[in-house]
Amino acid sequence: MSAALRLGVNIDHVATIRNARGGDHPDPVRAAEIVAAVGGDGITAHLREDRRHIRDSDLARIQAATNLPLNLEMAATEEMLEIALRHKPHAACIVPERREERTTEGGLDAAGQHNHLAPIVSRLNDANIRVSLFIEPDPRQIEAAMRLRAPVVELHTGRYAHLWLDGDAAGIEVELKRIADAAALAVKNGIEPHAGHGLTFENVQPIAAIPQLAELNIGHYLVGEAIFIGLEESVRRMRTLMDAAR
Ligand code: PXP
Repeated sequence: MSAALRLGVNIDHVATIRNARGGDHPDPVRAAEIVAAVGGDGITAHLREDRRHIRDSDLARIQAATNLPLNLEMAATEEMLEIALRHKPHAACIVPERREERTTEGGLDAAGQHNHLAPIVSRLNDANIRVSLFIEPDPRQIEAAMRLRAPVVELHTGRYAHLWLDGDAAGIEVELKRIADAAALAVKNGIEPHAGHGLTFENVQPIAAIPQLAELNIGHYLVGEAIFIGLEESVRRMRTLMDAAR
């Protein structure tokens, strides 16, 4: 049997709904409390440059509300680095970010951006914030993460999720192998592999079955499903599916 697989719940889209009306409801902090109560292993939040969902003031409130580790997703900018160093989340996942995109499309080019990323990774490492790089499942990117001394990589499952939507069984097999090979290469080189993006009740199990993966970060689907079955049940059901796949 493989080691336990942690579930980090991304609560950004609770804040998306809140912000649609500009008030305080629904509060992502309440979502974090529910995630903690039903056995989630961590809270993930992306403070985007345009603050379209999570706001600066949410971070401290989320940290104060539960004992769960906070995984702050952030662009590799000086502004976000300063915020991370001030809040000291358990982990910081560096993601590529373009203002006009709807969500994080494609992984970070850790190989091509070495010189830009190196001082940011090293300042986060020095502050004991666990750095994760959100990358495509590509050996070149894993090797770049090694050179950057990142202890964690998060493998982007967006392409895998799209292949599911297209019903492309052959493509899914190829992509699953790419993800499994990248996870194995990461572990071989002392890096802890995580995965996330676009995961759902339907497509999570083949990913959860990859034995080297230590954590999945899942958001949009869980919050969407919460509208119909409640957040507690949504997180619980995902947890059960992940556990059954190990
Ligand atoms: N991991 C990372 C690095 C992300 O940027 C996101 C989306 O914010 C997720 C996981 C969660 O993706 P989804 O919301 O599609 O589950």
